[in-house]
Amino acid sequence: MTTPTPLTQDELKTLVGQAALQFIVPGDIVGVGTGSTVNKFIDALATVKDQVRGAVSSSVASTERLRAIGIPVLDANDVEQLSVYVDGADEIDGQGHMVKGGGAALTREKIVAALARQFVCIADESKLVATLGRFPLPVEVIPMAAAHIARRFGTLGGKATLRLKEEQPLVTDNGQHILDVTGLSITDPLALESEINQWPGVVTVGIFAHQKAQVCLLGTAQGVKTLRY
Ligand code: 5RP
Repeated sequence: MTTPTPLTQDELKTLVGQAALQFIVPGDIVGVGTGSTVNKFIDALATVKDQVRGAVSSSVASTERLRAIGIPVLDANDVEQLSVYVDGADEIDGQGHMVKGGGAALTREKIVAALARQFVCIADESKLVATLGRFPLPVEVIPMAAAHIARRFGTLGGKATLRLKEEQPLVTDNGQHILDVTGLSITDPLALESEINQWPGVVTVGIFAHQKAQVCLLGTAQGVKTLRY
């Protein structure tokens, strides 16, 4: 008897992207996140696009992909509420708290997530952790505050590094910079998110605890597991 070949990370992302279609309410507007897992969800959306009235997108990159498959993208200001927001994560813990922002889209992701009644996280099982903090924590900052904020992370035992792209500071869709912070063990995500939110110059911290996931579709060797929080 031959042992089945384990699914690749890319195949797991495809599976969870497809599984997220079950949360689409026909005729509704859907909130769409950013990243390689969400790209699989957008590919899956293309197969049911006649059932989707439109999308609110969390990045220029996702907007372009949505428009390319013929899904209208609406301004967040024109939408009062979304039934669901589908997005990936860099880490997710056992309560649905997440670290996000590996794709630099964290600010718009938090805004679109805030419009939604339900956050459905799609992730392969490498993203599931006992405690957040192994993945460097992304923080979007106003450029003139970057050095000061980096020193404040130093007092918490963290080391903040300015994210670069082609040897220059990466500029987000909002015209700001990103610090990536290593060395933090995020044992109380709600408290740490609240604290960092108070620091002058912080636009958005990549801890999604106040806006955690209600559902995680986790791609595993045994198939897609649905975790509810
Ligand atoms: C982008 C994000 C993404 O959701 C996160 O980085 C996961 O991306 P991927 O699906 O490519 O692993 O927060 O800002």
